[in-house]
Amino acid sequence: MRKVFIHTFGCQMNEADSARMVEALARAGWAATSTAEEADLVILNTCAIREKSEQKILSALGRYRPLKLERGVRIGVGGCVAQQEKARLLKKVPYVDFVFGPDQVGRLPEIVRRVEEENVRLAETEWLDSSTYVFPQADPEFARGRATAFVTAMKGCNNVCSFCIVPYTRGREVSRPVDEILDEVRRLVDVGVREITLIGQNVNSYAGGVSFAELLRRVASVAGVQRIRFTTSHPHDLSDELIAVFAEEPKVMPHFHLPVQSGSDAVLVRMRRSYTVDWYLDRLEKLRAARPGIAITTDIIVGFPGETDEDFQKTLDLVERVRYENAYSFIYSPRPRTAAARHMHEWGVVPRETAVARLVRLQARLREHSLEYYASCIGTQVEVLVEGPSRYDPSRRFGRTPENRVVNFDGDAEVGETVMVLVEEATPNSLSGVQVGYDRHRPARGGDSNRVRLAVVA
Ligand code: SAH
Ligand code: SF4
Ligand code: F3S
Repeated sequence: MRKVFIHTFGCQMNEADSARMVEALARAGWAATSTAEEADLVILNTCAIREKSEQKILSALGRYRPLKLERGVRIGVGGCVAQQEKARLLKKVPYVDFVFGPDQVGRLPEIVRRVEEENVRLAETEWLDSSTYVFPQADPEFARGRATAFVTAMKGCNNVCSFCIVPYTRGREVSRPVDEILDEVRRLVDVGVREITLIGQNVNSYAGGVSFAELLRRVASVAGVQRIRFTTSHPHDLSDELIAVFAEEPKVMPHFHLPVQSGSDAVLVRMRRSYTVDWYLDRLEKLRAARPGIAITTDIIVGFPGETDEDFQKTLDLVERVRYENAYSFIYSPRPRTAAARHMHEWGVVPRETAVARLVRLQARLREHSLEYYASCIGTQVEVLVEGPSRYDPSRRFGRTPENRVVNFDGDAEVGETVMVLVEEATPNSLSGVQVGYDRHRPARGGDSNRVRLAVVA
């Protein structure tokens, strides 16, 4: 059987797309491998969100080039850089055989076949809209032995945030019909999946026949679904109905990722984010009232064009008020075709050193807040859905709490089981402890068999 290696960059959308690529190629006789060295086909599923993400892809391509020279390995590029660069990428990188956009994932086997049989170089980057796009269905067999799965709810983005390239790489919003989603969820549960994460660039603007809140309720009503998460949400689509679901539906996990981007209204206007800081805080207050203890996480950009020291101070103030559980923060990176990149000189470019200094300051504070949340768990018992062996020590287990806190622990629970863990240590991004009732000094059940079984599903 011929082998394909897929290198995935970027967000959960790309992770889900890579899974669909593996499934589609499997139906055409390809087996997935985890090393490029033994592959006959290498695919890069790319991200264009910041300039650095693009550079990473070019350097990865450079690393795969010798495989082509030595063994004639075919190289394909998918994802957002592919959609952004289209056929230009074939010119720029002469050893790339084919380029395909995110909407072409279902057609991948046909593209690969043409490249091989007709010996042509191809760029397939047509966008499909709601009348032509069919969401590829996940093959549940590939999820067997896993506790968690992503399920695509929608694709694309209709917002026009002035810094963001996504609308140009993923196109307009298309929602997946609710029955298709529920069907996929049922089939995943049948093979043992317990936690469903609904994904989309703007998932809470879902409009596939019912509201997003109703979609959550319907997923919750599927027998066997234990936990529901979703990502990622735009604050302006955080409806009262969605907040109410957090009060009513215990299967919806107490975690909300709500990217704020900046704590200054003046910056938010230039970002075209369509909310104010007060409005955002009001939403959060309602959310926290609906589900006390809910973990709030966010994304923040510093050094956006025209961001003054006062603007940045307002971001720090916001962070103090909200006390995020976790946050991803980035230095603004100008992206082709976006409004902010066009206006940055007029708005005022923030010098690199200033942006770096702001990021360092912000991240230090965010880390302190994260550590406070994580440290407050020491000595308590947390509920963990077991996902597999710990990445750092395969004799331990790994899972997450309802708030999405990562937990590494000693224990003998199997993938898919939910157990209580006594927390002994904390870092700003993980907890460590021992499964309640587990005796560390007793030999593992059946010798090393647990370890082996867990390693298989990693
Ligand atoms: N749809 C999500 C964001 C997806 S992109 C939302 O609207 O919130 C993930 C994060 O990358 C963004 O939240 C933003 O913080 C960051 N990002 C996007 N474009 C960027 C850019 N040009 N420079 C720096 N960070 C950027
Ligand atoms: Fe980008 Fe804004 Fe759409 Fe998020 S909502 S993907 S930041 S344009
Ligand atoms: Fe990157 Fe595209 Fe996702 S730009 S963040 S892979 S939608």
